[in-house]
Amino acid sequence: MNVVETIAGVRELVRAERRRGKSIGLVPTMGYLHEGHLSLIRRARTECDFVVVSVFVNPLQFGPQEDYNTYPRDLNRDARLAAEAGAAVIFHPAPAEMYPEGFQTHVEVERLSQGLCGAFRPGHFRGVATVVTKLFNIVTPDRAYFGEKDAQQLALIQRMVRDLNLDVEIVPLPIVRESDGLALSSRNTYLSPAERRAATVLYRALLRGRDLIAAGERDGRRVGEAVRGTLQAEPLVSRIDYVAVVDPETLAEKAALSGRVMLAVAAYIGKVRLIDNIRVVVD
Ligand code: PAJ
Repeated sequence: MNVVETIAGVRELVRAERRRGKSIGLVPTMGYLHEGHLSLIRRARTECDFVVVSVFVNPLQFGPQEDYNTYPRDLNRDARLAAEAGAAVIFHPAPAEMYPEGFQTHVEVERLSQGLCGAFRPGHFRGVATVVTKLFNIVTPDRAYFGEKDAQQLALIQRMVRDLNLDVEIVPLPIVRESDGLALSSRNTYLSPAERRAATVLYRALLRGRDLIAAGERDGRRVGEAVRGTLQAEPLVSRIDYVAVVDPETLAEKAALSGRVMLAVAAYIGKVRLIDNIRVVVD
């Protein structure tokens, strides 16, 4: 696997492919790849000739109390898995390559970055929007692949691409889960065995909400309360950041449920913060 650490290096590779008429796919990641990431890479490979996977733990999107330093990293394993899934190159820049001395320009998606995770992680989405814009400018992909796991991130990037007329197609892909329902996440490695078992409560809580809607409930607040109740019943849930019943595109709260609805949660299992969501179409 070709691991490139410089912006000039990856630009050169992409330019050569373009000259040969090849299409370019980009899968932005922070590495420690799992089946969720690999599903994005595999899809990218079916739709693009040349797939670039970025592996960059972006310091700009971590708060001062967050896990930037301890975030799991294993580039050799990532390179092997990405190659097997069809990637042509890993772009793995050092922080100073992306943010050299004097860096001071940021991308802010004003409203979509405010609620949900944004309310608990100030500056996080500004860091995401900024690095993703840079990656788009560096790699100039025809298509870029994002998971619905990070639903607010996806909504914000889709908005940003429209607002700034970025010439890239955003391809969203469904959440990949463990067999017991836990959404795959690089942060799941932080969970102790007991916490790992308890962590399925996020998905179970979302399913409880979905079942209520299927049974005819159309009051978003009552659905939210049922989801919250399920989370609270699990002793290892140490804190709930939010339970939200929202429009998946605008992230605006939905009081009366109709059309496309997203149930989203963020909760701590012990010291580990996890997020999850499901989408429902209400007729
Ligand atoms: P990271 O958390 O590594 O995720 C990279 C991509 O994989 C994101 O689009 C995310 O939604 C997707 N993903 C993660 N878990 C998934 C799962 N279980 N099923 C499907 N897709 C999943 O998200 C980021 O990195 C960063 O914020 C980034 C966009 C790279 C900017 O730094």
